[in-house]
Amino acid sequence: MRIKPAKCIKGRLSLPGDKSISHRAALIAALAKGKSRLKNFASGEDCAATLSCVRQLGVTVQEAGHEVLIESSGDLVSPSETLDCRNSGSTLRMLAGMLAGQSFDATLTGDDSLRRRPMRRIIEPLELMGAHIESQDGRPPLHIKSGGPLTPIFYVLPVASAQVKSCIMFAALHTDGRTAVIERTSTRDHTERLLQWFDVPIEILTPSDYSSNTIVVEGAVCLTAREVTIPGDISSAAFFVAAAAMLPESDLIIDNVGLNPTRTQFLTTLLSLGAHIETDNHRDECNEPVGSVYVRGFERNTGFRGSRGRLVIDCAGVAALIDELPLLAIVGTQIPGGLEIRDAAELRLKETDRIAATAKNLRAMGAEVKEFDDGLAVDGPVRLQGATIEPGGDHRIAMGFAVAALIAEGESEIKDAGCVGVSFPEFFHLLEAVMEH
Ligand code: S3P
Repeated sequence: MRIKPAKCIKGRLSLPGDKSISHRAALIAALAKGKSRLKNFASGEDCAATLSCVRQLGVTVQEAGHEVLIESSGDLVSPSETLDCRNSGSTLRMLAGMLAGQSFDATLTGDDSLRRRPMRRIIEPLELMGAHIESQDGRPPLHIKSGGPLTPIFYVLPVASAQVKSCIMFAALHTDGRTAVIERTSTRDHTERLLQWFDVPIEILTPSDYSSNTIVVEGAVCLTAREVTIPGDISSAAFFVAAAAMLPESDLIIDNVGLNPTRTQFLTTLLSLGAHIETDNHRDECNEPVGSVYVRGFERNTGFRGSRGRLVIDCAGVAALIDELPLLAIVGTQIPGGLEIRDAAELRLKETDRIAATAKNLRAMGAEVKEFDDGLAVDGPVRLQGATIEPGGDHRIAMGFAVAALIAEGESEIKDAGCVGVSFPEFFHLLEAVMEH
């Protein structure tokens, strides 16, 4: 895919459904008796992998445009074949929690990237609950053995991970007691919100200093089907927001986008740097905050406000920005003083090593980058140069560098650009529709 620099971004968009919420909606609907209608379901391959796993577990799934109908008896059946989660860590980790308390065996695997990703983080708590899971080296494939009901646990998450938290919450549904998961750093709370939408009793205790969240899940509850409207994906919106904020004379509106506070830190960070971003039309849909985002570009010859020294993102900031960090590093090249990301070793364990991929491609575009074990630092502001980008099969790297290409001097080429289909197949088409040269 060749990308020429753009003059500005102008238009009005509504985006496909949030990937994280779509996975959860499909999995919860599979456990809920009756017919659930999921509106604005995510269009990417990751969520398609979740749907095909759910089908293999004896649940009826019908797709019609952006709607998915899921009909379940409330019970899952033994899959005759291995469940292939393809590129999707969310599918594998959350499904493992759902399958751990079942009376049948199941094997979960994925593509080359997913088979390299760490699963001890879910195996350990699930085994504490009484599950039996075999793996080699704590990586997929995972063989989940049939077992009786699980035992509730009180578990402090050793990594800030919504996937691990959700895995335990799904397993907790197969206990006949109360499971408590404690997170010391907040992560996206879609599982909590969606289980509540399906009337599962969930209690969330947060001390007044916000130092942790304790999520208590009541097990042995029968779920009933519901309709779910899924908001547009804020992590997909982030690419358009960044491009519009940086390109002068841009004027962009994104409607019906998820504005859950555990996901909006990217907007907050750009706002703190002087970007022209507003949100409006706030409402709650199916227990998730939704609204519109308005972005205007900087006035000509102005740009991001610098912070004193480098802007540093670390600790809780990393968890809140986890999927936006490569894009933020690209934005960092336009911030006076630059940007430093630390405490982010988790980024090396994503679809690809996102620290290495970001550093390599930014350097190809002429940026000064220092790489650390747990992050990177970029100097700014610098005029990026068009380059050949190698995303390494990672959708967020491909889309982030498409944004970099828009603000660069000269044309860029994104290799293997089809990988954006993992989360956002419409990305290049929508970008073409709103950019002006
Ligand atoms: C996700 C959680 C995050 C995120 C991923 C989606 C989710 O992963 O990076 O894209 O849907 O729960 P971790 O929980 O592993 O940090």
